[in-house]
Amino acid sequence: MIKSCVIGLSKIGQIHCSNLKKIKKTKLSYVFDVDPDLRKKISKKYNCLSSSNFNSILKDKSIKLFIIASPTTTHEYYLTKLINLKKMIYCEKPISLDSNKLNLLKKKIAVNKIKICIGLNRRYSYPYLKMKKILKNRKVKIAQIISRSFKANVNQSVRNGGLFMDKGFHFFDLANWFVNSMPKNIKTIAKSISRKEFLDKKDFSDAIINMKFNNGSVVEFIFSRSSRLGHEERIKLFGNNFVIDSNKYFRKNILYENFDIKHKDSYLKCLKDFIYKDKTILLSEGIQTQRICSSVLKSTQKNNF
Ligand SMILES: NC(=O)c1ccc[n+]([C@@H]2O[C@H](COP(=O)([O-])OP(=O)(O)OC[C@H]3O[C@@H](n4cnc5c(N)ncnc54)[C@H](O)[C@@H]3O)[C@@H](O)[C@H]2O)c1
Repeated sequence: MIKSCVIGLSKIGQIHCSNLKKIKKTKLSYVFDVDPDLRKKISKKYNCLSSSNFNSILKDKSIKLFIIASPTTTHEYYLTKLINLKKMIYCEKPISLDSNKLNLLKKKIAVNKIKICIGLNRRYSYPYLKMKKILKNRKVKIAQIISRSFKANVNQSVRNGGLFMDKGFHFFDLANWFVNSMPKNIKTIAKSISRKEFLDKKDFSDAIINMKFNNGSVVEFIFSRSSRLGHEERIKLFGNNFVIDSNKYFRKNILYENFDIKHKDSYLKCLKDFIYKDKTILLSEGIQTQRICSSVLKSTQKNNF
């Protein structure tokens, strides 16, 4: 039995608490959040321990697995502590807010032989797995990726790294996965036209990104923090004599639901895969994607008008 602790208990942390309970090999022993009321409420709900002091949880050496689901601004702090203590780690995306620190982090993970997973759970979502299966080894020539959110919170976006790290991360990763290559040229037009509060906090609410990949494929991304219909997410893959459209594989009644409902099963599948595999998963993919986020951010300065 792997005794576990979840750090950060908002929506995403609570999904992980519930999933740890569903996996036979794991036990949810502790939860931790800086918000005392939330901490108490969730520890009661899941019948596990909590503490006002994270270091006191670390004193319990029997806790082997930590899930980091606190804001991205805090990931580096927890990662450093947990790596030094040689814990098993599931870290929500993105890894940290500073991609210059990724090499050092990667080295520490390797030196300390840490088993780690970065939460790229969209790869485990049914519609995308199905698309990948249908695609087989065929080449995607063009992909269009649209993600428009409904009622996005600007402060949450900012503390999780802004439009590209918070929203873009999964989609840049999915593009690499479907196209089976890495981007070499990136052009971005990013604005805060649809939501003024994003402009006030120096985040973008809208962006169009074009990427040319090393294998010649082209991917266009359209991101927005505004959508009247509800949360919209659609991926279309075009190749020689084929079009694969994600709308065909999402259940119709959840097409405009939020991401946690749309991809509900993917969180459990990703965590389970990590628990039962005897190795690190999705770390290099997470690092690559983080670098892409930084390149996209840089390209906003070059291509804006
Ligand atoms: N995989 C996915 O689909 C997905 C979806 C959404 C968010 N995320 C990621 O999950 C992480 C959490 O995102 P969120 O939107 O739930 O964040 P959030 O900003 O809403 O905060 C999460 C929780 O962490 C708590 N918290 C704040 N500071 C803390 C600290 N120092 N230590 C412990 N807890 C602290 C807050 O009180 C809150 O309850 C982010 O890294 C985000 O990018 C992943």
